[in-house]
Parts: sequence; structure tokens; C-alpha cells
Amino acid sequence: MNYRHLYHAGNFTDVFKHIVLVALIQSLLKKDNAFCFIDTHAGIGLYDLFSTEAQKTKEFLLGIEKIAQHANPPELIKAYLACVRTANKSSDTLQFYPGSPAIVDYFLRPQDRMVLTELHEADYLQLKKTFPHDKQIAIHHQDGYQGLKAFLPPKERRGLVLIDPPYEKPDELENLLSILPAAVKRWETGIFALWYPIKERLALERFLTSLKAKLTRPTCVTELSIYAENLPTHLNGSGMIIVNPPWQLDQTLKNNLPWLWEALSPHKQGKIKVELN
Ligand SMILES: C[S@@+](CC[C@H](N)C(=O)[O-])C[C@H]1O[C@@H](n2cnc3c(N)ncnc32)[C@H](O)[C@@H]1O
Repeated sequence: MNYRHLYHAGNFTDVFKHIVLVALIQSLLKKDNAFCFIDTHAGIGLYDLFSTEAQKTKEFLLGIEKIAQHANPPELIKAYLACVRTANKSSDTLQFYPGSPAIVDYFLRPQDRMVLTELHEADYLQLKKTFPHDKQIAIHHQDGYQGLKAFLPPKERRGLVLIDPPYEKPDELENLLSILPAAVKRWETGIFALWYPIKERLALERFLTSLKAKLTRPTCVTELSIYAENLPTHLNGSGMIIVNPPWQLDQTLKNNLPWLWEALSPHKQGKIKVELN
């Protein structure tokens, strides 16, 4: 396991993923009953953009840095930026970037719960430091896919599973073809959001077609690429396949993603996609 998210925190794919995450959480907040958020690949929770690692790649400059100070973003992006601002203790200096657990923590109500799994030992220990003694948050040093077997369905019966692997293993997508449908079978009414990188379009389309054929529930596929998709080795963009998408998620994304693409795409290349199936 060589992947460390600190090198990539706040990059354009993180921004896209976390804005979609906020949309999903906001839909869960519409009802008073408790929800459970399960993050299979949690990372360290909060990222210091002044760290040697983040400064080495400076990926956040083409991501969060580009939109953090925008005066008038659309509503969903405004809510996401409020969360980033809170991670920075309302300071105008952008030093900290909230990872998925910190973003969800920002919205968590007393009745809600989070279950986080992180396999990298140092990252797991750091994650525990990010959320010390929080009774609403369970943190496990465990393989996230094993966690799906252990924690589904949660007792709340409503909520969201985020699956955000580093794609270090060449067979990660192939394995997800059985892992995700099996997880959905365990919790048929849960919302599942799987993040994926956009590199080789043909292979990706084959994966999405096979996955959708195995899923018996409705899906929404959303993508944002900011470069022309002609370099199979390059990270041109990223996407998420959402199983059991909340009502009007597609419309919310259509209202917000064009603004995001306009703000993030350096040469106005790439595109956005929001597709309900
Ligand atoms: C892309 S990062 C997660 C970022 C985080 N979800 C966020 O949005 O802030 C992927 C994380 O998964 C961890 N990881 C890798 N393989 C794992 C596995 N099998 N189970 C759980 N965590 C894993 C890595 O150490 C890394 O911290």
C-alpha cells in the first residue's frame, strides 16, 4: 500500500467527489430519522495543504484553491465551501482540506452515526487523532470491503456507503463488479456511491455496462473531466456511480456541475455527465 491521499487532497477529483457527497448527505438530512454513513476507504479525515506531501504535488492548486474564494457559487457548492471554511476555522487562509469523514461530520446530527474503515496503519492512527473520543464515529483498522460484510445493513436502515479506493491494484475495477452488487444485496435500500478515475474510456465503459447489468437497483452515473479524454495514462477526470440515487439528485447535479466545470477546466476541455438509469 503506497498510496497516501495527502499528496492528492483537494485536487479537482476530490472537489467533485466531495460536492456529490454533500448533495447525498443533504438528501439524507431531509428526514429526521437517523442515518448511518459508512466510508470504506476513509483516509486521514483532515489534510494539511501546507504539509511537505501536499506541497510536493500542489494538486490542490487546480482543485479547491480555484474555487475557495469564489463570491457566488451555486447553492450546493456554497454548502460544500462552508464546510471547507469551517475546517479552516473560518480563516481566509486555505490550509486544511476536509476529507470525506470530516465533510460528513460537519453535517452529522446527534441521532446520526459514522463507520469508518482505513487499512493503512499510519493513516488509521491519524484518522483516530482527527476524531478523538467521538461516540458517533466508529473507526476500524480494517479492509473496507470486509467492513461491507460486517456493517451492512446498519440498524438505522437509511444512509450512505462511500467506496473510494485508491485504484492501486490493477484488478480493483474487476473486483468491484462482484463486491458492489453483493453489498447492495445486503442492503437493498441503502445509497451506495462508488468513485472511479477516468483514464481509459473504453475499459471504463465496459466496466460500467457490466456493473449496471449486475445491479438490480436504479443508478445515477455522474462524471466531471477537465481534460480531453485522449490520454489513457492521464487522470482526465473522475466519476461516481450512485446506487439508489435520492430523488432529484440528477437535477441538483445538473444545476451545479456546469459551474464547477467552468471554474476547474483550465482549457475548457472535458465535460460533465449526469445520467439516470
Ligand atoms: C482515495 S483515499 C480516501 C479518501 C477519502 N475517502 C476522502 O474522500 O477524503 C483511499 C484510502 O484508502 C485506503 N485503503 C487502501 N486500501 C484499502 C482497503 N482495502 N480498505 C480500507 N482502506 C484502504 C488508503 O490508505 C487511502 O487512505
